Amino acid sequence: METMKKMSMVDLVSQYKKIQNEIDTAIHDVVVSSAYINGPDVKHFAKELEEYLDVKHVIPCANGTDALQIAMMALNFKPGDEVITASFTYVATAEVIALLQLKPVLVDVDPDTFAIDCDAIERAITPKTVAIVPVHLFGQCSNMQRVMEIANAHNLYVIEDTAQAIGAEYTLSTGATMKAGTIGTIGTTSFFPSKNLGCMGDGGAIFTQNDELAQRIRIIANHGQSVQYHHDDIGVNSRLDTIQAAILRIKLGHLDEYCAARQRAAAYYDNAFGKNPKLKIPSRQKNPTRISSVHFSVERCFENSLA
Ligand SMILES: Cc1ncc(COP(=O)(O)O)c(C=O)c1O
Repeated sequence: METMKKMSMVDLVSQYKKIQNEIDTAIHDVVVSSAYINGPDVKHFAKELEEYLDVKHVIPCANGTDALQIAMMALNFKPGDEVITASFTYVATAEVIALLQLKPVLVDVDPDTFAIDCDAIERAITPKTVAIVPVHLFGQCSNMQRVMEIANAHNLYVIEDTAQAIGAEYTLSTGATMKAGTIGTIGTTSFFPSKNLGCMGDGGAIFTQNDELAQRIRIIANHGQSVQYHHDDIGVNSRLDTIQAAILRIKLGHLDEYCAARQRAAAYYDNAFGKNPKLKIPSRQKNPTRISSVHFSVERCFENSLA
């Protein structure tokens, strides 16, 4: 009998072997520099990711769960505030909402795309709602046009959980194409090894276009400290290790190629399973084309919600 070949979801060993020399050198350079914490690679990686995403600020942190937690801490939510998110996500999204004593309000997803259902968001809004957390799954964005319209109409923050979609693009009704995580008030991501951009351990990052918010996020991620040993706020200790940053700098150069490979694999499965009348395959993002009467602005959303 022929033995079945075990297939891993992501073949990280093959991926490593293709860039082994670069990765080994990068790790070695960090080890001999002894700049293990907050070494130069962390700053360089943040800058390079800002350029790739076309976002003003990237703040690296320890993992994608921390990224969500720090984002919500930076927005000063109060216990009992309601945060709407998708019921179909990794536990971390809802977990941090509950951890901060906020109320997770789970709404359904579109059965075709698995993205958060925008009609369900509208139905779930109450006077206590402070934010929407769309989760971009399987490399495609939620309907960000509508999410932003709803958020602006109700003065809500938007935290995009882009742990499973870094590098994905979304075209708004204005014609502007933006990268996942750069459209809402804050974007968060994970560099867990199996992600599109994965390190060799844990890692995460937070993105924002807003200077004031970026400053607050940096302080919270660093023990609430703005000047060394001056702790003005309650924060956390959430850093991306220098070794992981050095690895991510190399892998960022391959991110588009990694995304394209996943798209080819998805097309292969779509083609194979789509022919089976008993199976329903997920559909590709329906990028809305309708012109919005609401002009949204990330700055405006931030200012209004602070008021
Ligand atoms: C959608 C989503 N959000 C958050 C996370 C949490 O990321 P991390 O494992 O880096 O904490 C994950 C990780 O799998 C995820 O898939």
